[in-house]
Amino acid sequence: MLLLFVVLLLVSKGFIQPCLSVSSQNIGYGYRLVSLEENPDGGGLIGHLLLKKGTSTYGPDIPHLRLFVKHETRNRLRVHITDAENERWEVPYNLLPREEPPPLEIPSQKTSGFPFTASEFSGEELVFSYISDPFGFAVNRRSNGETLFNSTTEAEDPYASLVFKDQYLEISTSLPKYSSLYGLGENTQPGGIQLQPNDPYTLYTTDVSAINLNTDLYGSHPVYMDLRNRNGETAAHAVLLLNSNGMDVFYRGSSLTYKIIGGIFDFYFLSGPMPLDVIDQYTSLIGRPAPMPYWALGFHQCRWGYHNLSVVEGVVEGYNNAQIPLDVMWTDDDHMDARKDFTLSPVNFPRPKLLAFLDKIHSRGMKYVVIVDPGINVNLTYGVYLRGMAQDIFIKYEGEPYLAQVWPGPVYFPDFLNPSGVSWWVDEIARFHKLVPVDGLWIDMNEISNFCTGKCKIPTTHSCPIPNNPTPWVCCLDCVNITKTRWDDPPYKINASGIQAPLGFKTIAPSAVHYNGVMEYNAHSLYGFSQSIATNKALLKLEGKRPFVLSRSSFVGSGAYAAHWTGDNQGTWENLRYSISTILNFGLFGMPMVGADICGFYPAPTEELCNRWIELGAFYPFSRDHANFASPRQELYQWESVAKSARNALGLRYKLLPYLYTLSYEAHIYGAPLARPVFFSFPNFTASYGLSTQFLLGSSVMVSPVLKQGATSVDAIFPPGTWYNLFDTTKAVISKDDKYVTLNAPLNEINVHLYQNTILPLQRGGVLTKEARTTPFTLLVAFPFSATHSDAKGKVYVDDDERPEMKLVDGEATYVEFYASIEGKTVKVWSEVGMEKFSLDEKLLIEKITVLGLEGIGGGMEMEVDGERVSDLSGVHFTDASSVDLDKLDGRTNRKS
Ligand code: NOJ
Repeated sequence: MLLLFVVLLLVSKGFIQPCLSVSSQNIGYGYRLVSLEENPDGGGLIGHLLLKKGTSTYGPDIPHLRLFVKHETRNRLRVHITDAENERWEVPYNLLPREEPPPLEIPSQKTSGFPFTASEFSGEELVFSYISDPFGFAVNRRSNGETLFNSTTEAEDPYASLVFKDQYLEISTSLPKYSSLYGLGENTQPGGIQLQPNDPYTLYTTDVSAINLNTDLYGSHPVYMDLRNRNGETAAHAVLLLNSNGMDVFYRGSSLTYKIIGGIFDFYFLSGPMPLDVIDQYTSLIGRPAPMPYWALGFHQCRWGYHNLSVVEGVVEGYNNAQIPLDVMWTDDDHMDARKDFTLSPVNFPRPKLLAFLDKIHSRGMKYVVIVDPGINVNLTYGVYLRGMAQDIFIKYEGEPYLAQVWPGPVYFPDFLNPSGVSWWVDEIARFHKLVPVDGLWIDMNEISNFCTGKCKIPTTHSCPIPNNPTPWVCCLDCVNITKTRWDDPPYKINASGIQAPLGFKTIAPSAVHYNGVMEYNAHSLYGFSQSIATNKALLKLEGKRPFVLSRSSFVGSGAYAAHWTGDNQGTWENLRYSISTILNFGLFGMPMVGADICGFYPAPTEELCNRWIELGAFYPFSRDHANFASPRQELYQWESVAKSARNALGLRYKLLPYLYTLSYEAHIYGAPLARPVFFSFPNFTASYGLSTQFLLGSSVMVSPVLKQGATSVDAIFPPGTWYNLFDTTKAVISKDDKYVTLNAPLNEINVHLYQNTILPLQRGGVLTKEARTTPFTLLVAFPFSATHSDAKGKVYVDDDERPEMKLVDGEATYVEFYASIEGKTVKVWSEVGMEKFSLDEKLLIEKITVLGLEGIGGGMEMEVDGERVSDLSGVHFTDASSVDLDKLDGRTNRKS
């Protein structure tokens, strides 16, 4: 009654206009748009929706909704729908380091706008249209009329139109047959990068191992990219639903349905139209990927179970002796005293010895990273805990800190949504850094993982943790059942952990409370994200250097603060394969610095698998070998054959460092992932839409790993053109179509190819990034095979990676584009600034230019560099076609029919 009165009042005052575009049908369920106005301040439209008819399932419907629609940029449309009368939980916008200022506060119901009478609201490329009764909306692409999202429905079905209840929201879109969808993670997708109809996509941050297929995992990224190819015309767009509540997303091929247990609908549509444009637009909204220090692109070695410092020293020695690249040594919780964060075991990692070790490796240019878990041991002799208590920064339950259990036993969890929690964390990291000068931090278990379900209390009958417990992940606190509130037991059960587990399963109770009364129910999936922000901030403050943070849990925007690894995988051939899809997905999620545990986290890789894994892992953006304490040792020097593969593959990685670093700069500037699906560079090559066994590094380097046991060849597909084998540039694949070719792949070799028309910057490589980056450059200029008229280009970004920002500052950073052309027998190579000005520092020299793809050059080739004829061609290396063994042109001779 009251509502009716309010509506009538608004109508009489002219705030609500009668419905403008009523459809002919009048379906019973859903909402009716009763007004739509232009927002006078800041643009956009504001509308009001009234419930027509609801259902009793999952609770009462919210009677009155407010709609806000705005073209925020040329290529971004926002559609925001919430309760018009009561404030609801929304992802706090200040967490997203977007490039533009946060959107204007959404105006209240009372605007003095003018009625919006058109049926469409157009931006530069995206068009919003709607049906008033029952309310539904569509988003179209202006340039080709394609409908990108369409929630309108004709069906008389209570769930076919918009559903908005306190703890249940539902909306669907129809999709055309020619859509290929990507994203919606984190999950391990056995079907590859392309979303598979009828696979479940549940989003709720969860510590279940990455070997669980198609279930919710460590991160929540409610975003998908839709790549459409109709009649040879390709365009991609993305849809982000900015919502941190648990949700199931059902993709059925012809439709996609969101079922969410809270928050609001806050949709962002990004128009693309090419995949790289989509990522650019996405990361401009959610925050650009964090700049990464150069050394982070080196190889990393870790293990849970380096029980003492001598073992760690032995590992560094092992790599050194085997001459396998190693930049970063890690310790898991082994260096800690009784697994307490920010402590050192006085017996196993005595500080003076650790400091001496760090001095030694630091002086060589190596780095050291350690783990920190969010659980702070409840222990009256532990300063970290006492200071946290004094500052009242722990997540609460019924007014008391929430007791949980992780590795050190009983723990409380700091609240990173609490500003005091952040400053306490920053301070603890500063204190620890004085104790141990670590170079980066690894934040783990931050979904949040809890070994108990429900509320715990300290047991009186036994100790916790149990000494020498072989299964430390089993709860040893006494668990007390909690009073089940509507947060703990919502009416709709998402498919948590793949078994419709209760939301509090192995985490904290959804009715736990954060700062300012925020319910864990709403903020659950933001925990790892908020911890990444705080950790990045802490590292930045230490020495003003570029931070390196690795986080297991992530949310929309995490890439601006942290790198990621795919979590607890298994040393199996399937897991080797799955790693590619997850890594490519994280590129889409704006978190491109990502890798998987090389050789598998557990139980034990075979020698052959570890060979193949390092060959692939050497080309992960983040390349780290990590294993569980129960697995046998798997450092790369443990097997001679693996050492050989590692020297080979990592050897190439270290030569490619200038290319990788340039890619990480481009990732930071416009989001472009380091590791990309092949369709990113070849959007019309439809055979690559589901390709999940090969990928690109940047736009032009194709990685084609062996993923099958016993194989000594690999079937690979290449978009048309010449692809030069980077291990032996006299070999090439010349592809004309989308047929697979068989490439030789003996045990120690991986296939990595460079695409034509590229100038690839290389350095001499080495076993440490610090040394490799000072060696002279080679420019590898790749023309199409036999071309007499063609061109090529490439880029290099150089800075000293000490500065936190990665941006072009005069005298401190440079970003040079190189160009090349071939006309008959003349090859020209030049750069905008001139080659001699390329170096920031005189030590950076181009020592060689190698030109690939020339035919019959016998003699008479001429070369111009920066417009000047080069008389001494000793620094230039032409591949002479006569020396190209045509039998080795894999694409020609080994083509499969
Ligand atoms: C779980 C992480 O996923 C794993 O990588 C780590 O080794 C263990 N926690 C122990 O810290």
